[in-house]
Amino acid sequence: MKIAFFASQPYDRRFFDEALPSQPDSAGIELVYHSALLSQETVVLAQGADAVCVFVNDVLDAPVLEALHGYGVRAILLRCAGYNNLDLEAAKRLGLFVARVPAYSPEAVAEYTLALVQTLNRHTHRAYARVREGNFSLDGLLGATLFGKTVGIVGTGKIGLATARIFKGFGCTVLGHDPYPAPAFAQLGTMVELPQLLAESDIVSLHCPLMESTRHMISEETLPLMKKGAMLVNTSRGGLIDTGAVIEALKSRQLGSLAIDVYEQESNLFFQDRSSDIIDDDIFQRLMTFPNVLVTGHQGFFTSEALREIAAITYHNLQCFRQGKQCENSVLAG
Ligand code: NAI
Repeated sequence: MKIAFFASQPYDRRFFDEALPSQPDSAGIELVYHSALLSQETVVLAQGADAVCVFVNDVLDAPVLEALHGYGVRAILLRCAGYNNLDLEAAKRLGLFVARVPAYSPEAVAEYTLALVQTLNRHTHRAYARVREGNFSLDGLLGATLFGKTVGIVGTGKIGLATARIFKGFGCTVLGHDPYPAPAFAQLGTMVELPQLLAESDIVSLHCPLMESTRHMISEETLPLMKKGAMLVNTSRGGLIDTGAVIEALKSRQLGSLAIDVYEQESNLFFQDRSSDIIDDDIFQRLMTFPNVLVTGHQGFFTSEALREIAAITYHNLQCFRQGKQCENSVLAG
C-alpha cells in the first residue's frame, strides 16, 4: 500500500514516520512525501499510489479526482478537519474513500486564538522588538483588559466551545451563534442571532466551517453591524471574510483590529518561505501596512499533540480503507 503525501513539510514526515511502526502491518505501508500542492499540474506524482494524503490547500476538484482515479488511487486521506477544498459530488461519483481528521486538538486552535487576541490587544509582538532595541517606551502599547468584555463566538462546535471556555475563564461575557448550537454552550454563554452577536461583541471570533452559505459572512453588509472599534479574529478559513471589505472597514475605523491565521488566497503564500520573492498579492500587502492587523500563516493546529493525533487518526482511517470497513471519519457518509 503506497501513500503519496502532498504539500508535505518536514514536520509531517517526522510525525507520520514516527507513528508508522506501531501500525498494523506497517511493513506493507510505503510513504512517499511530495512537497508540491496537489493540483492538475502535480497530480501525476500520485501515479502508482493507492492513496493520497492531503492538507488544507491541496486542490481536490473534479479533474484532479478523476486523474487520481485514473492512476488507480482509491483513497483520499485528509490530514485536516475542513474539506471545503473537495468536490464531494465528484468523489462520490468516482466511489473514492475520503476520510478526514474531524478533531485532533480543538484546544490547540482555541489556545492559539487567545494568543492572537492578546498579542494584538497588548501589543506583545511590538514590545518584544522594542525591548530588543533598547526602547522601553510604552507609547503605542496601550491595551484593553479582557475581563468584563463581550466576546462573540460564531460556530460553537469543538473549537468554538473550547475558545468560549477560555474567554469565560478571563471573565468575559460570551455570546454564541450557531444554527446547530452545542448544548454544552449553555453553561458558557448565551446563543443569539448573528446581527445581535455582531452588535454587542467587543471581539468576534469565527469558528464555523467554510461553505457556500458561510462564504464572506463578514462582508460590506455585515461589517457595519459590528460594534465600532471591535476586534475580528479568524482562525477558521479565510473565505469566511471578504478581505477587501475588511480593509475598507479598517480604513474607516469601523473595525478596530484584525487577527487572522487564515487568508482567502493563502494557498499562494502559506506554508512556504517566500521571503526572497516579490509578493504580488496587493490585498495581502495592504493588510501588512496596518499596525492593528496581525496575520499568521495557518498555524493554529500546530502543536506536537495535535500533529501526533493527526497522524494517529489518519492511520486509523487508512486501516478502515484497507479493511473495507465503515469509517466514522468518512466525509461521504449518507
Ligand atoms: P465543528 O464541526 O466541531 O464546528 C463547526 C460549527 O460551526 C458547528 O457547530 C456548525 O453547526 C457551525 N456552523 C455551521 N454553519 C454556521 C453558520 N452559518 N454560522 C455559525 N455557525 C455555523 O468544527 P471545529 O472542529 O470546531 O472546526 C471549526 C473550523 O476551524 C473548521 O471548519 C476549520 O475550517 C477550522 N480549523 C482551523 C485550524 C487552524 O489551524 N487554523 C485547524 C482546525 C480547524
